[in-house]
Amino acid sequence: MSVYPIYRPRRLRANENMRRLVRETHFSVDDLIYPMFVIHGEKVENEIPSMPGCFQYSVDKLVAAAKELVSLGIPATILFGIPESKDAVGSEAYADDGIIQQAVRAIKEAVPELLVITDVCLCEYTDHGHCGIIGDGDVLNDPTVDLLVKESLSHARAGADVIAPSDMMDGRVGAIREALNEDGYENIPIMAYSAKYASAFYGPFRDAAESAPQFGDRRSYQMDPANSEEALREVALDIDEGADIVMVKPALSYLDVIYQVKSEYQMPVAAYNVSGEYAMIKAAAQNGWIDEKRVALEMLTSIKRAGADMILTYFAKSVVKWLND
Ligand code: PBG
Repeated sequence: MSVYPIYRPRRLRANENMRRLVRETHFSVDDLIYPMFVIHGEKVENEIPSMPGCFQYSVDKLVAAAKELVSLGIPATILFGIPESKDAVGSEAYADDGIIQQAVRAIKEAVPELLVITDVCLCEYTDHGHCGIIGDGDVLNDPTVDLLVKESLSHARAGADVIAPSDMMDGRVGAIREALNEDGYENIPIMAYSAKYASAFYGPFRDAAESAPQFGDRRSYQMDPANSEEALREVALDIDEGADIVMVKPALSYLDVIYQVKSEYQMPVAAYNVSGEYAMIKAAAQNGWIDEKRVALEMLTSIKRAGADMILTYFAKSVVKWLND
């Protein structure tokens, strides 16, 4: 390559039209999935203190929120449920009249054009707050997988468009795929939380979903933040087991993992821009310390640039408004 003064990189940065022509990463509404929380009751709209602008909605309000997503052009939502009561085995997670099942039926009836993804996990539904059933002081893998299969089938019966297991049990993608196929749901894709780290960035979400573990932590099933080769092994397993979309979570501290996964496998990659990443920006912006719009768009652009095809983000609605400005 010829060097300065022959080559002057600033020529291509001189004005916005030139910058538009050479821009490498394009970020659009097509890339967005908006997470929502659903709770029992009517006319409930509880703002989540650590996630300003995000709410726990009762089903009626959730349907209204789903309509807003469609009017903004956002293609998909992912749903999280807060049950009426919790128990040791997370019964409401796989009850056909559970909160998620009610929510999915209501959205698919009133707003069929919105893609509905359901998070499959037990932590919101267990009284101990872990992602599976407990034995010998730890989460038991295979018995938990059986319950995750029941939960997935129950979501499919309610009309879920995509099943997204987030529990990090070994072998769950294959078990869910097989069960869906057997019950005639062979066309429902699985978005696997494949490289999901044991992250402190989930703090605000656990307020929102009321799912903080009541003892210990999730490090015996979620991944160690220090590892990236292990992430590639996890992704390879999920692809072998039938995952259609693989996810890296969180996003911002794991851009290298997103990049490696996208480079290594020819698969759609989702990145979860998690609650703590949202809360940090919101808090700093409320203090007047950073420019929310510019920082959020820069962060989301970096996630795309790293290789994500789609981003689950609490900023989704704001992004559409910002992009339209
Ligand atoms: C359920 C689940 C969690 C998140 C998504 N699905 C919490 C956890 O694993 O503790 C976190 C999402 C976020 O922080 O925005 N297992």
